Amino acid sequence: MATATGTRTIHIKVKRYQPDKDAKPYWQDFAVQAEGNDRLVDVLNKIKWEQDGTLTFRRSCVHGVCGSDAMRVNGRNRLACKLLVNDIGARVTVEPMLGFPVIRDLVVDMEPFFAKYEKVKPYLMNDEPAPRTERLQSPEQRERYDETTKCILCGACTGSCPSVWANPDWVGPASIVNAHRFIFDSRDHGGAERMQILGDRNGVWRCRTIFNCSEACPRGIHVTDAIEEVKRAIMFGTTDIA
Ligand code: SF4
Ligand code: F3S
Ligand code: FES
Repeated sequence: MATATGTRTIHIKVKRYQPDKDAKPYWQDFAVQAEGNDRLVDVLNKIKWEQDGTLTFRRSCVHGVCGSDAMRVNGRNRLACKLLVNDIGARVTVEPMLGFPVIRDLVVDMEPFFAKYEKVKPYLMNDEPAPRTERLQSPEQRERYDETTKCILCGACTGSCPSVWANPDWVGPASIVNAHRFIFDSRDHGGAERMQILGDRNGVWRCRTIFNCSEACPRGIHVTDAIEEVKRAIMFGTTDIA
């Protein structure tokens, strides 16, 4: 209930699971006093510090930069540090992202996610001798891949994609976003290699254009559009068409 000071009671239902101890996951209810401009991460901290120190979740920067606190909130992947109490209502369900093995409570195993990320070679590939100064490109060339530089590798897109849920071997949207960032960089020479990797059976074609990824991205990246651009580049064999 809201009060004159803006303090209200948040009823929060958290999915708990400790695989070496619990037979299966279970829900636990908490009631927390919170201000409207508190963030979900503040609410979780209050639970941990004042009610149950065993509640386990990741957070680090608490400013939407590190990508460590992605979780499923009321059925949608969000960063807990970017979600205000004012925007989530008085009853909230919080659970780990789907499609990731659960280590404990809200902490998921990101290793398979980063293994797929590495698969697309997310670094500049250019064997030409390094110039005396920087490798130049025009503002237009820089703009071409600007959006996909904003990825913070939180996994919210990958954890909300039904194609990932159905096939854990699929490379997933976050990896394609990071491949896009280099494929369309005029200084990079590894595009053909990455497009070959993404053209195989666990590459871009398993994307069914469901758009959950774009809705989930806390950085506002149009993930589906980036995937479509990579599909077109592979289909036409050039980045000029996409
Ligand atoms: Fe997170 Fe967006 Fe990057 Fe996906 S594309 S990992 S949702 S920042
Ligand atoms: Fe999945 Fe996004 Fe494609 S939700 S199917 S990666 S458009
Ligand atoms: Fe770093 Fe939320 S804690 S993005």
